[in-house]
Parts: sequence; C-alpha cells; structure tokens
Amino acid sequence: CGIVGYVGSDDAAEFLIEGLRRLEYRGYDSAGVAVVCDDDIAVTRSVGRIQSLVDRLGTPPAGSLGLGHTRWATHGPATEENAHPHVGGDGDVVLVHNGVIENYQILKDGLIEKGYEFHSATDSEVIAHLVAEGLRNTPVVEDQPHSRYVTAVQWAIAQLRGTYGLAIIFRDKPGFMIAARFGSPLVIGVGRGEYFIASDASPLAGRTDRIVYLADHQLAVLTADGFSVLHRDSGKVRVNIQPFEADSGEVSMNGYEHYMLKEIYEQPDALRNAMRGRLNDQDATAVFGGLNLTPQQLRSVERIILTGCGTSWHSALVGEYMIEELSRIPVTVEYASELRYRNPPIENNTLVFGITQSGETADTLAALNETKRKGHRTLAICNVVGSSIAQASDGGVYLHAGPEIGVASTKAFTSQCCVLAMLALYFGRMRHMSFETGGRIIEDLRRLPATIEQALTCDAEVRKVAEKYQSASNVLYLGRRYNFPTALEGALKLKEISYIHAEGYPAAEMKHGPIALVDADTPSIFIMPRGTTYDKVLSNMEEVKARGGPVIAIASSDDTEIRKIADDVIMIPEAPEFLQPIVSVIPLQLLSYHIAVLRGCDVDKPRNLAKSVTVE
Ligand code: G6P
Repeated sequence: CGIVGYVGSDDAAEFLIEGLRRLEYRGYDSAGVAVVCDDDIAVTRSVGRIQSLVDRLGTPPAGSLGLGHTRWATHGPATEENAHPHVGGDGDVVLVHNGVIENYQILKDGLIEKGYEFHSATDSEVIAHLVAEGLRNTPVVEDQPHSRYVTAVQWAIAQLRGTYGLAIIFRDKPGFMIAARFGSPLVIGVGRGEYFIASDASPLAGRTDRIVYLADHQLAVLTADGFSVLHRDSGKVRVNIQPFEADSGEVSMNGYEHYMLKEIYEQPDALRNAMRGRLNDQDATAVFGGLNLTPQQLRSVERIILTGCGTSWHSALVGEYMIEELSRIPVTVEYASELRYRNPPIENNTLVFGITQSGETADTLAALNETKRKGHRTLAICNVVGSSIAQASDGGVYLHAGPEIGVASTKAFTSQCCVLAMLALYFGRMRHMSFETGGRIIEDLRRLPATIEQALTCDAEVRKVAEKYQSASNVLYLGRRYNFPTALEGALKLKEISYIHAEGYPAAEMKHGPIALVDADTPSIFIMPRGTTYDKVLSNMEEVKARGGPVIAIASSDDTEIRKIADDVIMIPEAPEFLQPIVSVIPLQLLSYHIAVLRGCDVDKPRNLAKSVTVE
C-alpha cells in the first residue's frame, strides 16, 4: 500500500493525487484522500484505481493539510468501506496505515465494548479508534499544544503488535500531522514552509530535494512551520536530512500499447546499462563500485545466499547456477518470506544478497534485516536508487534498468541475471578462474544485448503461437539446468497477466507428477536451446507427445530437426549456456503478453497483484 501526506500552504489535494499515482505500483485495489477544510476533514474514498478516486472527487476539496492512501487489500476485500483513510472516534481522528496489525481482533473487541462503532473489516480502523480513545483519556496540557496528540498516538501504538507506517490528522487540530513508523517505511520530504510524508521517496520527486528516512519506533510531528522527530524510548532525536535527487519525469509509453511491451523491448538497452563501466578487459573481470567490502573480505566468502520474491527469486535461481559454475562458491536460494522466519544456521563468511526490482518488498527487506542482525553482510541487487532495501543493506549493485512500470517484471529479470553473471565472473576471477576464461565471459556478455535484439524478432512468430493456444486452461513450462528457472519465470508471467494456470518444472521431474496433467488441451512448452541436456529434454518432449499433449519448443535457430517433432517452434539465437535464460525468457515474456492481450486482460495492472508487495 502507499501513503502520502502534505502540510504547508499549497493545495494539498494536488500533491496527494499526483503522489498516489506514483505509488500506485504498491497496490491499486482502492484509494482515498482526506483534506482538512473549513474546520472539518473531507474524506473521499473509492474502489479501484487512482483515476476512479479522481473521478469521484470531481473538484478536490481545497485545503493545505491532507493525507492519501492507495491500497492492496490485506484485511477485508477491496470495498469503499475498507479503503483508507479511516476515521476514529466521532470523526476526531483520520489516518492512513500501511502494514499489518496482528492483534487487531482483540483490540477491536475491547473498543467495541467501549462503544466504538466499526465500519470496515480492516485492521487499520482499529488504530484510528485507539488514537481517539487515547485522546479521550489524555488531558490538555497548557503551553504544550502538541503533547496531548503525541501522547494519544504513543499510547495507541504501544498496544499494536505488527507493523505500521501511519499518517494521522485531527479534526480539532488543523495544520498538524503525526507520522509513525515500525516495520513499514516512511519518508519525510523537507520543503520550505511545507512538508511531505510518503511511504517511499517517489512522490517527492520534483517537490523537494531534501528528505528524512524515519527509523523504526520513530514518530514525527509536522506543521507548516517545521517538524520534529521523537523516538519511542529516547525522546527527541536529531534527524539526518539527506539530499534527494530524482527524475520527476513522467514515464511515457513511447508509442507502445502497454508498459510491459515497451519494457520487453527495452531489454537490450537495459542490459547495456547494467554492464556499463563494469567490465574490465585488462584484468578480465567485472568491477563494482558499491559492494563496500575489502578484497580480503570478498576473497574469504565461503557461501552466498540469494533471496528475493516472485520474479526476483527466479533470477536468484539463475544466479545459483551461474555462481556455482563460474565461481565455485556454494549458493543457497531462499524465498525471502521463508528465510526471515526459518532461522537457518549461517556460517561466518556468508554473503547475503537481496534481489529486488523495487527495493520495497517487505519480505525481502525483513529477510535482509534478520540476517544482518545475526552479523552477516547484506548486499542488494536492486533497481530503484535510494529505496528501502538499498538503504538497509551494507552495499550492493544497482541494475540501472530504468523505471519498470508493468506489474509483470521483464527487464528487471534479465538485468538481475546479467548482474549475477558479472558477479559470478568477479568472484570466479578472485579464485580459480583463468584470465582466458574471464576474457571469454566478457566477450559473451558484450554480445548479449545484440543477441536479445535478435531474439526480439521472434515477436510475430510468438503471436501466432499465442493465437493458437490462447484458450488453454493449463500450460506446462519445462526446462533443465539454466532453463529450469526460465520455465518457472515463463509460467509465472502467464499466470500473472493471463490468469491461465501454468506450472514450471524441471523437464525430467515432470514424469514424477505433472505428466498426469498432459492431455490434448494442455500444451507443454519446452525451453531447449542446444546445450548439455538437449538430448535428455528431447526425450522428455517425446514422452509428452506420446501421451497426446501438444508440444512447443523454444529452440536454437540452427535446430532444424526439432520442427519434425514439436507442434510449434520458436527459434532463439545462440548463446553460451550460462546466458541462455536471458535469451530464452524473451519469447516467454512475449507469449504471455500476447495471450493476455488476446484474452482482453489488463496487462500492466493485472487483477489482485501489486508491482511491489509492501506487506508481509
Ligand atoms: C510482486 C510483483 C512481482 C515481483 C515481486 C518482487 O509480486 O508482482 O513482479 O517479482 O513482487 O518484487 P521486487 O520489487 O522485490 O523485485
């Protein structure tokens, strides 16, 4: 979910709406704003996208203090009642909340007993009533106009178990806002005579060049005249105001029909940007500016953990194959959501990489924080500069892929794989890898953008295949070694945007279960460019064919024989095995795109998903 807040002398609604549009990647089930005007707080909420809210608002309420929210439903469906802002007491308190309150039911029961009326199924409304209750029990202190409100909020949040990023305003205290954070990021934009709150820095671009990242257990008090930050235990804290640079430019579709298609076609350039300045011919290695580790520390790495969610978890799997093969360092891949609670024994000299496009995924952030707490070095492979995960880790590598807007990740995946290949080269060259092999890998990497350009020429062919299979209800994606994670990624792409059930599997493992699904209506896509396991995958394909299942091959361009076996073939250009996932995923991205378009799906904002999931 996304939060924005404004206090100053300008029109609050304008910033709130524009800010929410930039935060829509965090969820788009419903949205709302609250603006203080005429001694009251005007709350407007709407189901659906920010545009529905704008339509509902008509002429937005005029006022110079307000807050807004865009939601990804956790507790309670996406209805207007469950949309934020939530109102507490008899309209005394209005707030927006990110995060999850685990003990909300107990708190709710207690509040109902006290006579509070609930209008939503959310955990967030509980906080609004709790703050109202806190206000009711806190006397006014002369000469300390803010203290009653601060005390009430502190009293309320002390009872919460779970995570929160909060922005709160009060009916009888116009011009005043409180923000509080625990486990759900919040930033303050510092302007001149105006201050902004947001759940990440993106809405602040173009409005201020100075920001403050609130830390856990901190609470900020904001008016148009200034702001102060308090810590739960230590009282007032000195804040570190950081410079903030961001491109406020709108991301255009550049003539493409969807962001996803544009981003698919941007991949050659994204790869060039990921590699720019990072390949060193003289030493036949890669160079990274931001790892923040000494050569000695890097050489003593004995294990690498790669963690992430969704597509980023798939690139971690590709990275596992690359790093183990090229650097000979043992790699473990972990779902971030599991790693954070699994508490695996981790040896010293283990490096933990969090892989994330947005840098805001709650589980990935928590997994990194958890491993850091235990003394391990955490690094981020991340696209968004200055994001929460980029800040929280000890160092890392930026993708430089440019903004990725389509919810289904495309160019971030291939850029992540490319960065992982460069890391594999880097670690390999610190250990056993010869100068010659390092040089060859650099050449392979340099050829990659042109190879992807060539791979993209399969588009028309892919569209024909999409037309043929658009009505399928189940699709299997099968590959081995480097192309096994590609199979998972292909299946995920189809699920995400076409709502067709798809499964990715290691091709040989298929006979231990999924083969039971094979019938004349269940196509199997074999990702089988030439390589170590080509013949084995070919046999797996025969096994599916023998059971009457349609088979589609993603195959090397010189593989003319495959046409005799497969029902449909999509050719991809040659690439060394360790780079094949980056090439073979291209037709799979295009296939899911075309099928989604043919089925009339909302490609860039598929149902139920968010670009980045900021709750656990
Ligand atoms: C969401 C998105 C996925 C993405 C995942 C991880 O589920 O829908 O496309 O792969 O989050 O996001 P991250 O920003 O951490 O890579």
